[in-house]
Amino acid sequence: IPHFIVIGNPIVHSKSPEIHQVFAAQTGLDTRYEQQYCPDDTESFMAVVEAFFHGGGVGTNVTVPFKQVAYEACVARGGVSEHAKIAGAVNTLLLNKDKVKNGSSVKDALYGDNTDGQGLVNHIMSLGWPLEHAKVALIGSGGAARGVILPLIQAGIGQLTLANRTLNKAETLVAELSTASPTIHKHDINTCTTAELTGQFDLIINATSIGLSGDTLPLSYDLNCDYAYDMMYGRALPFLQHFVARGAQTSDGYGMLIGQAALSFERWTGHAIDVTQATAVLKKQSA
Ligand code: ATR
Repeated sequence: IPHFIVIGNPIVHSKSPEIHQVFAAQTGLDTRYEQQYCPDDTESFMAVVEAFFHGGGVGTNVTVPFKQVAYEACVARGGVSEHAKIAGAVNTLLLNKDKVKNGSSVKDALYGDNTDGQGLVNHIMSLGWPLEHAKVALIGSGGAARGVILPLIQAGIGQLTLANRTLNKAETLVAELSTASPTIHKHDINTCTTAELTGQFDLIINATSIGLSGDTLPLSYDLNCDYAYDMMYGRALPFLQHFVARGAQTSDGYGMLIGQAALSFERWTGHAIDVTQATAVLKKQSA
């Protein structure tokens, strides 16, 4: 039976096992997917990864706080996908089969991918929200924002504004990404502070870690959009409420979570997932 795990700390609240169980049922594959707790240090993470693949495991998801550690490990010895490289983070690990065949160690055969950004784009498209030529604002400049900029540009958006509490972090991120990817042009991305973000956008995405914490973003009274997306999930997200009050369509990030999981499953098994069907099943289960 193909064996998968998700490595994180904390890990007990991870919804990935439940999501992957629905994928297994949909594809008719007999798989095993488990949560794996790991102490928060690089040595422990690498020990968990090596033991898992030595034991015949097929693939792992990587979540907070190990996405950067996983990236460093893949860059140092194995390899990474273009999306992982631009994101500077890995959420999906597998072994390069050719390298394994040629006798490489697990460390040398590790391959890291990042499906978070494409998972977001796929979810937005499945909602029927237009991305092509869209005027988009992305709020936040941490790891979550970094991972979605290239997939958004590849989806054909027309204009991108990156807003952040700390303007300098937004500017640095744009400079770094435009150096790292020929697809990302520095002068095509506007930057401003979150409080300065005003006007009408087609789509506004919250990629800050603010979520359901007591804090709220200083959103301008004059900030409007047709579609608002919060990469966090849960009820009554303050960011979404701001735009519900202004008549926008909104979505939380639960579909992105399913979307990134579906892409990981496809990388590992070669079986495509009908995300719409899987989402319907998961919604029914949690209702
Ligand atoms: P993640 O991996 O979730 O992106 P991160 O790399 O720590 O986490 O980035 C957190 C992001 O949320 C940053 O953009 C941060 O803004 P700063 O760069 O100014 O720190 C933003 N953020 C976190 N808490 C916030 C708050 N209370 N108000 C506004 N922005 C906040």
